[in-house]
Amino acid sequence: MIEGLFIVVEGVDGAGTTTHTKILIDSLRARGLPAHGTREPSDGPIGTMLRQVLTGRLVVPGIRGPRPPSWTTMALLFAADRVDHVEAEIVPNLLDGVTVVSDRYDYSSVAYQSTTGGGGEDAEHWVKEINAHARRPDLTLVLDIPPRVAAQRRLERGRGREIYDDEELQEQLAEFYLGIEKHFPGDNIVHIDANRSIDEVAADVMREVRRLRGEKVD
Ligand SMILES: Nc1ncnc2c1ncn2[C@@H]1O[C@H](COP(=O)(O)OP(=O)(O)OP(=O)(O)O)[C@@H](O)[C@H]1O
Ligand SMILES: [Mg+2]
Repeated sequence: MIEGLFIVVEGVDGAGTTTHTKILIDSLRARGLPAHGTREPSDGPIGTMLRQVLTGRLVVPGIRGPRPPSWTTMALLFAADRVDHVEAEIVPNLLDGVTVVSDRYDYSSVAYQSTTGGGGEDAEHWVKEINAHARRPDLTLVLDIPPRVAAQRRLERGRGREIYDDEELQEQLAEFYLGIEKHFPGDNIVHIDANRSIDEVAADVMREVRRLRGEKVD
C-alpha cells in the first residue's frame, strides 16, 4: 500500500484555511482519491480543551480577573495536541493510503506562540524544539492575504471573537506567513494569493496538489 500524502493549509485567521481544506477534500474525493480532512487544534481531548481556551470558555483565574493561559502553556498544549493528532489520526490515515489535509499544523504554533511570546529567536527556537517530532508535510499551502481583508472576512463570517483576534497580532502573523520559508527550511511550501475569489484560490490549491502527485499541470 502506498502511503497517502500529507498536506497542510496555513494562513492568518480568516485567510480561508477552513474553506479551502473542505474544498480540497471534496475535489480529491470527486476524483476518486481517498481523502481525510482534519484540523488543529484537533478534535482529540487536548485539542477540544484548546478550543475552549481560544473561545474564552476556559480561563486562568486571577486577582485582576480571568485571563487566558500564558503563551508557554499554550505552546505546550498545542505541542501535546499535535503529537496526539499525528499518532491518533494523521499517521493511521496516511498508512491506509488516505491523503490527509490539515487545516493548520506546527507552522501555526511557531507563528502564534513565538509572536505572542515576544517574537524573538529564543521563543521560536523553544517552540520548534517541543515540536521537533512533528512529521513533516509533503506540501504546505500558505494562503496569503492582507490582514485587513482577513479581518473583514472574519467580521462577515460573524463568529465570536477569539483570544488571538487582535489587529496588531494579526498584522505580525501576516508578515510571518509571508516569509515563512525562512523559518522552515527544507519544507515544501507554496504561497497562494488568497485575496481572490474562492474559486480562483481553490483552482490554484488543486493545481499544486496535482503537481505534487506528479500530474502534468501548466
Ligand atoms: N477567497 C475568498 N473570497 C472571499 N471570501 C472568502 C474566501 N475564502 C474564504 N472566504 C470567506 O471568509 C470567511 C473566512 O474563511 P475561513 O473560515 O475559511 O477562514 P479561516 O482561515 O479558516 O479562519 P480561522 O482561522 O479564523 O478559522 C468565510 O466566511 C469564508 O466563506
Ligand atoms: Mg478556520
